[in-house]
Amino acid sequence: MRNFELYVPTKMIFGKGQIEKLSTEVPKDKKVLMLYGGGSIKKNGVYDQVVTALKDHTVVEFGGIEANPEYTTLLKALDVIKKEDIGYMLAVGGGSVIDGTKFLSSAALYEGDNPWDILAKRIRTLKGLPFGTVLTLPATGSEMNSGAVVSRSETNEKMVMGGPGLFPEFSICDPTVVHSIPKRQLANGIVDAYTHVLEQYMTYPADAPLQDRFSEGILQTLIEIAPAIIKDPSDYKAASNFMWCCTMALNGYIQKGVPTDWSVHMIAHELTAFYGIDHARTLAVILPSAYTKKFEQKKEKLAQYAERIFNIKEGTIDEKATEAINRTENFFKSLDIDTRLRDYTNDYEGFSQKVAKNLTDHGMTALGEHQDITPEIAAEIVEMAY
Ligand code: NZQ
Ligand code: ZN
Repeated sequence: MRNFELYVPTKMIFGKGQIEKLSTEVPKDKKVLMLYGGGSIKKNGVYDQVVTALKDHTVVEFGGIEANPEYTTLLKALDVIKKEDIGYMLAVGGGSVIDGTKFLSSAALYEGDNPWDILAKRIRTLKGLPFGTVLTLPATGSEMNSGAVVSRSETNEKMVMGGPGLFPEFSICDPTVVHSIPKRQLANGIVDAYTHVLEQYMTYPADAPLQDRFSEGILQTLIEIAPAIIKDPSDYKAASNFMWCCTMALNGYIQKGVPTDWSVHMIAHELTAFYGIDHARTLAVILPSAYTKKFEQKKEKLAQYAERIFNIKEGTIDEKATEAINRTENFFKSLDIDTRLRDYTNDYEGFSQKVAKNLTDHGMTALGEHQDITPEIAAEIVEMAY
């Protein structure tokens, strides 16, 4: 096992009826900026619960953060933070609202001239404006990690940022919020969390059987609860396990002491940057061809995953590994998620070269657990996914 440090300071407040705890978790001596998305929270009762819990706080609101949070929208929120002298933020939403809030947390204290540099120059945030979250959509794990992804559609860019200053101070995860999530977003959440686990698991054996079994436990649980949550998102048993799986998939624990990949995400982000395809769907497009391209390097873990998750006991390592990729793709399809780029757009000729250029421009020239996925290889993976 590799050496590691584990630092995950976010306080997790999980369960039914926990949103009222905002009244004590959010400091009363600071002006609070409450951030949210396109309005789902006003329809499902979450907004009312938050406002009630914060009735003794001074709160300013900023709504309208889009799915795949837009840099230009976030700059407007940054103005509000400065004009209103905001001292604390509360993100109420899914990954996009939480990520947008993380960007603002960093930008509010950033001393450079241009906040875009935080993303473009990949400046690690050591200290940010403090914030907490109320999660409304299980998927990204953003509620308990220090990463964020921000989009800039005018330039077809989708960039990652992070740093130890960007953990939420607390996150309230009430699984009853899941009841209003549309099927499409439920499926997205399952596939995103599933892929997060695979990015940290599907590499090569690293003498870390506990991390492997943590990962396999999350994968198995996601497969198990998927039909129930899609059928009835108000099923609390399914919703609570779905929510906790998504958090555990990307809160730092399963990646400690082991190699990680993340090439699927980095390549897939380009599909959102150019076509606006939902994040999880871009992963479902790229993952099968990425694993096929890197088959020789990944086949031992693919075969282990085939045995332990899909109970495939017969066949050679190569046969099991091939079946593992097929079964993964079939799992995505079982959630009505298409796994080819042509299912989403007809306009993909030459796209692989644009991906290669963007990856080069952003310094992502050595992706994957072996750092051997060059922009040219990424372009081949994209072509295999057409
Ligand atoms: O905007 P509103 O009206 O709230 O509607 C949202 C949005 O349209 C809706 N929604 C959220 N909670 C709901 C709900 N609808 C009904 N009931 C509820 N309870 O769902 C839609 C999608 O929301 P969004 O926040 O965009 O989804 P998600 O959580 O999947 O976040 C996606 C973003 O996170 C980034 C992605 O790249 C993408 O930009 N990621 C962030 C990561 C991180 N910080 O660690 C890791 C991930 O790999 C990912 O890259
Ligand atoms: Zn993801």
